[in-house]
Amino acid sequence: MSVVPYKDKDNSKRDQVAEMFDNISPKYDFLNHLLSGGIDIYWRKRAIKLLNKSHPGGVPPKTILDIATGTGDFAIEALALHPEKIIGVDISEGMLAVGRQKIQKLGKQGIIELRTGDSEHLPFADNYFDAVIVSFGVRNFENLLAGLTDMQRVMRRGGTCVVVEFSKPKAFPFKQVYNFYFKYILPTVGKMVSRDSSAYTYLPESVQAFPDGNDFLTIFEQAGFTKTQCIPLTFGICSIYVGHK
Ligand SMILES: C[S@@+](CC[C@H](N)C(=O)[O-])C[C@H]1O[C@@H](n2cnc3c(N)ncnc32)[C@H](O)[C@@H]1O
Repeated sequence: MSVVPYKDKDNSKRDQVAEMFDNISPKYDFLNHLLSGGIDIYWRKRAIKLLNKSHPGGVPPKTILDIATGTGDFAIEALALHPEKIIGVDISEGMLAVGRQKIQKLGKQGIIELRTGDSEHLPFADNYFDAVIVSFGVRNFENLLAGLTDMQRVMRRGGTCVVVEFSKPKAFPFKQVYNFYFKYILPTVGKMVSRDSSAYTYLPESVQAFPDGNDFLTIFEQAGFTKTQCIPLTFGICSIYVGHK
């Protein structure tokens, strides 16, 4: 059974996820950096460096699709590669509104465009983007394989896909410290600041249920990505997955 934010509601995971991110959007960036101690910024930077290194031909991608862009942090990080265009898509209007303000402030609205869109039904032609990226998004998909398959469809041959997602540390004592933090501290602080009673309980539950490491690579390859690899970061709390087409 899939993990949903609001267990007492019976609408789809997609609708519940959109509602939850709409609710927490004003506090999302603040809580992200607070609860991760700012390390999420480093994870996204590492992923963009890896995208640059892994992209074939030694030329950085010119067109980038940022799936589940939220408030746009990964799209903004991708500006480091000087692409011609970055399109971010998300199902939460609340998150997109915060993202658009940030991009406007940076004066980058000519390069980054944020649009409403669902990863399972992407409104783009086949083989369109040089690179497709997603940070902390895939765990929230209603159907992981369908979402990854559509990402593969819109990426051109020779393109690169980079996925950043939470994973589960396995070694003592990191596993124990992480479990305690994720189970007790994070939901309490998250609830206090965001005022959404479920969002920060859903976070550890969805990470727990998510296929990480080789399990993720199996589904990544089923979606059509090739030459895949997993790069664990920070004792395995987070992993970067790279795939090609
Ligand atoms: C944890 S946030 C990550 C946002 C951003 N990528 C970041 O790194 O901060 C997850 C985002 O995924 C979006 N999302 C979940 N399912 C989606 C789907 N099927 N299609 C597009 N966006 C989705 C949510 O609305 C939310 O904004």
